[in-house]
Amino acid sequence: MKVIVLNDALEISKDAAEIIINQVNKKKDSVIGFATGASPVETYKRIIEAYERGDVSLKHITTFNLDEYVGLNRENVNSYFWFMKDNLFGKTDVDFDRVNFLSGLAEDTEAECERYSKRIRECGGIDLQILGIGTNGHIGFNEPGEKFADGPFAVKLTQSTIDSNKKYFEAVGDTMPEYALTMGIGDIMRAKKIILIATGASKAKAVKALVEGEVTAECPASILKLHSDVTVFLDNDSAALLGERK
Ligand code: GLP
Repeated sequence: MKVIVLNDALEISKDAAEIIINQVNKKKDSVIGFATGASPVETYKRIIEAYERGDVSLKHITTFNLDEYVGLNRENVNSYFWFMKDNLFGKTDVDFDRVNFLSGLAEDTEAECERYSKRIRECGGIDLQILGIGTNGHIGFNEPGEKFADGPFAVKLTQSTIDSNKKYFEAVGDTMPEYALTMGIGDIMRAKKIILIATGASKAKAVKALVEGEVTAECPASILKLHSDVTVFLDNDSAALLGERK
């Protein structure tokens, strides 16, 4: 695992965006796994800027998002579909026919997860997966628990995740859903390349468990240590609890 500590989110966004842009320029029809949340927003801005300069086209990429809230339709401003449309897809030439999402409205969540899993396989797997990390060490919505999930599944969100994310729902007078559908750890680990972005002091504990802790389902992100091509981008605040690094 390569750990890169930079000064702030802006510096991280430039390096992270460069990796994504290089990937797409090298392979126009790359399969990219996208993450939502505040962490990748600056990076997505750098990609939009590169698109506007004509330095990259996202027209031929296929996208898979990590997760979606159960019960929200795509027009809901707090759905992750809306988030991606608003923060990246709708501001570039992403082809919405190639955008893949777990449906928060699926009645049969098991069948929906199976469909998504099959779709990832049909597309040849994920070339590059972008990740954030929850304050409790979750990736996607793989919450701390007793074992790592392989494929997509429906998850009951932990109180810690609800406490971190409920502000977005409260801002529009809604209550945050308690359930979500998420890619499993297996789906994430099968990506050929992974970048994880973590900024701010609230992530410092999770980052320490990720970088220095043992591999345990109690910190789902810790499994990334077993992947051969992971780059972790940190700012000084999220890296604050790490020991001396060579
Ligand atoms: C959310 C998402 C994750 C994201 C994480 C961190 O719950 N499901 O994919 O990485 O929490 O979010 P943020 O970047 O806003 O701190």
